[in-house]
Amino acid sequence: METKKLDAINDYGNSVNRASEILKSGGIVALPTETVYGLAASAYSDSAIKAVFTAKGRPQDNPLIVHISSLDMLKDVACDIPDAAYKCAEKFWPGPFTMVLPKGDKIANSVSAGLNTVAVRYPSEKTICDIISLSGLPLAAPSANTSGRPSPTTAAHVIDDLDGKIDAVVIGGDCAVGVESTVVSLVGDCPRLLRPGAVTPEQLKKVLPDLVIDDAVLEQLREGEKAASPGMKYKHYAPKTEAFLVEGCSNSFVKFVNQKNDCAAICFEEEYYSINVPKISYGSKRNEGTLAQNVFSVLRDVDALDVKEVYIHAPSKDGVGLAVYNRLIRACAFKVVVL
Ligand code: TXA
Ligand code: MG
Repeated sequence: METKKLDAINDYGNSVNRASEILKSGGIVALPTETVYGLAASAYSDSAIKAVFTAKGRPQDNPLIVHISSLDMLKDVACDIPDAAYKCAEKFWPGPFTMVLPKGDKIANSVSAGLNTVAVRYPSEKTICDIISLSGLPLAAPSANTSGRPSPTTAAHVIDDLDGKIDAVVIGGDCAVGVESTVVSLVGDCPRLLRPGAVTPEQLKKVLPDLVIDDAVLEQLREGEKAASPGMKYKHYAPKTEAFLVEGCSNSFVKFVNQKNDCAAICFEEEYYSINVPKISYGSKRNEGTLAQNVFSVLRDVDALDVKEVYIHAPSKDGVGLAVYNRLIRACAFKVVVL
């Protein structure tokens, strides 16, 4: 199929209108959010959701996040909503924050991959909110990448992965946050952080003092272990080049990569000029927000360096650094070198 390119930078009104018409007629459309680009479909349409899974090559048991554009829409999507959900909504919505709640009846079963829960997010990006409001539809939207590849933070990334496989892409600017939303489950005995993002554990604990951080945030699931969030069990975000995460100080990292052959480094800007192998900086080690903005782009760019292996200098796990670390350890299939 031909993927329509809707230019929301130069022709916003027309692009948003056409995207909403396509979604209302059961099509699938990639669009920008503040975290990463999403591949949207009506959360009420089983066939549109199935088309999303097919276009991405996504495993059938990995459920999607449903996006809303007002707190009022929450009751159309979820049921038996606990007080904690409203407290979180007040603090973190609109924004890069997703809650897992009991699923409402109207949501297509394929959205939740057969679970009786649904993940819900009210994003802050104007484009997706306007498209939701115009179409009147809650939109299920996973990240708009081919399954397993780094998430897309620019329209060009989406086109690289999905051109010819989806009805349209809304071309907006680059994503401000750069890593996907924080996911918290509110359906178990206590609130559980399933995926770290720009809303940090420190911020969450102010609203949810009994928050538990799921083991899968930083560790690999053991064989046969059940994932609280199915998405966390898959190999993810991987460049084609074999990747290793490296923990250690700048001096040790520089020394380590400089004595390796046929490799590249993804490093901090402070180390860039000391490294003698092909290298890409993903920002200052002191600014986790910048590292988050750049992490998926550099994972895509490294393949062009055409080397056998890439060594990635691990960020601190503070603040949004935890989210960056979580994505990188998956990109490296949990292969970590400690210096
Ligand atoms: O920032 C984001 O969240 C982006 C943008 C597009 O909004 N979306 C995104 O979707 O990252 P996706 O599909 O790439 O990741 C959704 C994550 C997966 O790890 C999935 O397993 C988890 O949320 N998830 C979705 N529904 C769930 C549920 N009912 N219970 C537990 N985990 C769920
Ligand atoms: Mg994804």
